[in-house]
Amino acid sequence: MDSKNKDLRHLAIIMDGNGRWAQQRGLPRFEGHLAGARRVVELIPFMEKYGIEYITLYAFSTENWKRSAEEVQYLMNLLADFLDDNLENMCKNRIRLRVTGRLADLPDFCVQRLNSVMEKTSCYQERTLILALNYGGRTELTDAVRKIAASVQDGSLRPEDIEEKTISEHLYLPDVPDPDLMIRTSGELRISNFLLWQLSYAEFYFTDTFWPDFDEAELTKALDAFRKRNRRFGGRP
Ligand code: IPE
Ligand code: IPE
Ligand code: MG
Repeated sequence: MDSKNKDLRHLAIIMDGNGRWAQQRGLPRFEGHLAGARRVVELIPFMEKYGIEYITLYAFSTENWKRSAEEVQYLMNLLADFLDDNLENMCKNRIRLRVTGRLADLPDFCVQRLNSVMEKTSCYQERTLILALNYGGRTELTDAVRKIAASVQDGSLRPEDIEEKTISEHLYLPDVPDPDLMIRTSGELRISNFLLWQLSYAEFYFTDTFWPDFDEAELTKALDAFRKRNRRFGGRP
């Protein structure tokens, strides 16, 4: 397989199945999250190896606050540990960290670490790892509509001048290209409020494999499947 895949600039992943992975082994759910975080660490060098410019990882949705306080607390601590432990790894692999979601509602100790790692990796231009945290596609669109409505209200934008581009420009990361491929692990066939606007023309790849088992062989299987797809974007084949 060639290491540069020009057609796949942006890979988006719904990392699902941590809980079931743990359950299958008679372990508590948090063990699944810990094993899932290790898979994220493994992905870091794969960005260069497989020529992927952007990876967006769905790490915590706006709906995940519905989980037990213990699980939410565990996930936030795991995020902080991941950031503390991987700054060097990100720098070594020349990867920039960015986030998408309503960050202000995350605990302060997470926001501080996120800001620090984002700042320290902001010099890297070739590859970007995006963590979707407290992210919901509907929330993102709601926030975009609020900003657009404010511009209409202050007279700087006329309703008839609102185009698709206007909406794209008011999303959280307007400069990031839309995902080319969206992978969801664990056998669930839904998008669970992930990147609703941006996934319009993404190819979807679903696997029964739980996220903590999603290794390099699984990734290359997904990339191979993507390469065989015929993307038409509504045009002729
Ligand atoms: C994905 O695994 C991780 C998060 C949503 C944070 P789950 O925790 O959803 O695992 P399952 O779906 O219960 O197996
Ligand atoms: C989607 O997984 C969110 C993340 C992976 C962060 P969920 O496990 O929360 O989604 P549902 O509840 O199965 O739709
Ligand atoms: Mg799940």
